[in-house]
Formats: sequence, structure tokens, C-alpha cells
Amino acid sequence: MTLRIAVVRETAEGERRVAATPETVRKLGALGATLAIEAGAGAGAGIADTDYEQAGAMVADRAAVLAGAGVVLAVQAPEAAALAGVLDGAWVVAAFDPFRRGEAVAAYAGAGLEALAMDWMPRITRAQSMDILSSQSNLAGYKAVLEAASAYGRALPMMMTAAGTIPAARAFIMGVGVAGLQAIATARRLGAQVSATDVRSATREQIQSLGAKPIFVEGVAGIEGEGAGGYAGETSEEYRAAQAELVAGHIARQDIVITTALIPGRPAPRLVTDAQVATMRPGSVIVDLAVEAGGNVEGVVPGEVVTRHGVTIIGHRNMASRLAADASALFARNLYNFLAAFWDKDAGRPVLDAEIGDAIRLTQGRQVVNPRLSS
Ligand code: NAI
Repeated sequence: MTLRIAVVRETAEGERRVAATPETVRKLGALGATLAIEAGAGAGAGIADTDYEQAGAMVADRAAVLAGAGVVLAVQAPEAAALAGVLDGAWVVAAFDPFRRGEAVAAYAGAGLEALAMDWMPRITRAQSMDILSSQSNLAGYKAVLEAASAYGRALPMMMTAAGTIPAARAFIMGVGVAGLQAIATARRLGAQVSATDVRSATREQIQSLGAKPIFVEGVAGIEGEGAGGYAGETSEEYRAAQAELVAGHIARQDIVITTALIPGRPAPRLVTDAQVATMRPGSVIVDLAVEAGGNVEGVVPGEVVTRHGVTIIGHRNMASRLAADASALFARNLYNFLAAFWDKDAGRPVLDAEIGDAIRLTQGRQVVNPRLSS
């Protein structure tokens, strides 16, 4: 029997992305699957139902699309209860945010579904093309700078005009992972004077290579090199105190601050206090990309734009969704690359290996099976 891959319309508030595009529909079809897309699934990303049909998919309502599906693709994993009609043991390939959605994961086990968390893809070379965190963070970093630039009541580049000179804006990027690197590059392209900081020492050279100024705590050990898997851990009390002091002096002179600092499985580190916000010039702008993990900035409100001490603090959730067409194109390719890499011609479906399967599989055989969730 041919494997049916179903793609559902996203239901989370403000979610405009979609997990498949006509391009990936065509490619998945070429592997030997049949594709069924929920009507309207691509609307938020500018993809019409007819575009999917032309790529060879069936477009129908949710019940018809899910009936007999062996794989369901989504951007944000829907509730298990919303997936009635799929085959027993069907895969659901999506972002699960497993630490924060424990009950939803348990419901997946109860429903006999196999939840595959693409947000837990291991950081190994062969999985880079399947890494949704990287593809989406890159776009979020770019968009964060655009949001800041448009909320900022001044220009970013230095301009010498007949009426006088406008100085360049100063932008400070806190957290130099995938999003932060793109934020540095984007702010530079727009003409700002850019500085950046991180706890991982390997980022110092990366900041310099993008033409920005590294702002680093000296004399107190932070995290050597890349950090485990490229991720930061908690730093020492001493480091945090030194970092806070350094930032306090620097931030007062900044016009735009973009924060992106995350620590996997923990709340986001608090990097900017209300007192520091108060030292910034009125009209300055802060964008907190860590807002969904609790925020790096004191006073940020998830999903809102607020003003504190005359400083605009932007707390948009799901920044990547604001570039829904590109974000969907890359997300969809991540999912295709994943399914294609494991495609087993004889079985007519993908079959996972242990290295990647064990890392991303949350539920199987009506149990929660991922060791990261049992400790
Ligand atoms: P992330 O989203 O987990 O964190 C963002 C940044 O915040 C990180 O650079 C982290 O060091 C920093 N941070 C944490 N606490 C901080 C603090 N108190 N102050 C300042 N900064 C703080 O990280 P992301 O963007 O996912 O990537 C981190 C690294 O992993 C990058 O170097 C990237 O190149 C690497 N990577 C490797 C992949 C692979 O090999 N397949 C895939 C994706 C990323």
C-alpha cells in the first residue's frame, strides 16, 4: 500500500507557516508517497490549494486528508485529539517543544501515534539540512532587525546630506547563535555600527569576521569554544556578575538591542534589567527573540510591543512566521530532507536509524520513550 503523507493546516494563533510546499510535494511524490493537503493549509504563506493540486496532491478537508495517513507533517504539532483517522502508529513530524508540552506528548502516546520532534534533531553534520531550529532562527534574526529598524524613529546608516549629517545607529546583539549571526549581518547591511556578545568563546571570531565588535567578559571563564553541541549551559555566578556589569556600561550607548540568548531546557537567561533599559536613550528599540522561553529582557511582554522608560520593547512571538513564505520553504525542505534521507524503497516509507531516531522520537508503542523526558 502506498504511504499517504498528510499535511494539516496550522491552528496555533498567529501561525502562518505550512509544512509542505508545491516543491516538496512534488519531491515526496517522486519518492513514491501520495500527498494529501488540508484545504487552505498554504494560505498564510501565499500558496493556493490549486498550486498543491498542480504538484500532484489531493486537497480536501481535514478528516479526508487524515484518513489512512501513515505520516502527518505540521509546523507546530497539533493536539493528538485533532488527528483522528490516521493509521495506528502513524508518524507526526513537526516541532513539539517537548519540555513545555509534556501533556500533549503524553496524549500522543495514548493515541498510539509516533511523535517525531524535529526540534530535537541532533547537531551532527549529516542532520544539518534537516535542522528546523537553524533554518527558522536564521530568518528570525533577520526579521528582528527589520522590526527594530521600522520601530526606530531614526535612520540606521550614517547619511551625509546637504541639510547635515545623520550619525549611524548603534546596534548590540546579545547571543550569537544562528539568529544572532544573521542579526549582526543584517544590521551591518543596513548600515548600523554593530557590537555583539555571547558566553561561548568561539563566537568572538565569528563576530569579528562579520565586521562587528565583540564585547566579552575578560578574566572570568565563560564557556570554552563552541559549547556542547553548540549550545550554552549555565555560567558561574562570578561570570554572570561580570557580564551584567559589562553590559550595563555598554547598553546605555545603544540605539537598538536584539537579544537571542537561549539555554536548552532552561528558562532564557535574564540579560537586560529594567534599570538598564532606563539608561537607554528614549526612542531606542529592543527586540527580545527569547520571549517564548521567558525572555532575556525584564519587562518584555510575550506577543506585545510595550514602551518602558521611552524604550520600545518588541516581544513578538514566532518571528519566523512573519516571513511565512520563506520560512515555510525552508521548513518544508528540512522535512523533505529528513524523509528522503531515510526513505526505504522496499518498504515504500522512511525507516529511521538509531542515531537520529532515538534523539527525536518522543512516543512509540503507546509509551513516552525519549530518555530526555523520563529524567
Ligand atoms: P541557541 O538558540 O541555543 O542560543 C542562542 C545563543 O545564545 C547561543 O550562541 C548561546 O551561546 C547564547 N547564550 C546563552 N546564554 C547566554 C548568555 N547568558 N549571554 C549571552 N549569550 C548567551 O543557539 P543556536 O542558535 O541554536 O546555535 C548555537 C551554535 O550551534 C552555533 O554556533 C551554531 O553554528 C551551532 N549549530 C550547529 C549545528 C550543526 O552542527 N548541525 C546546527 C545548528 C547550530
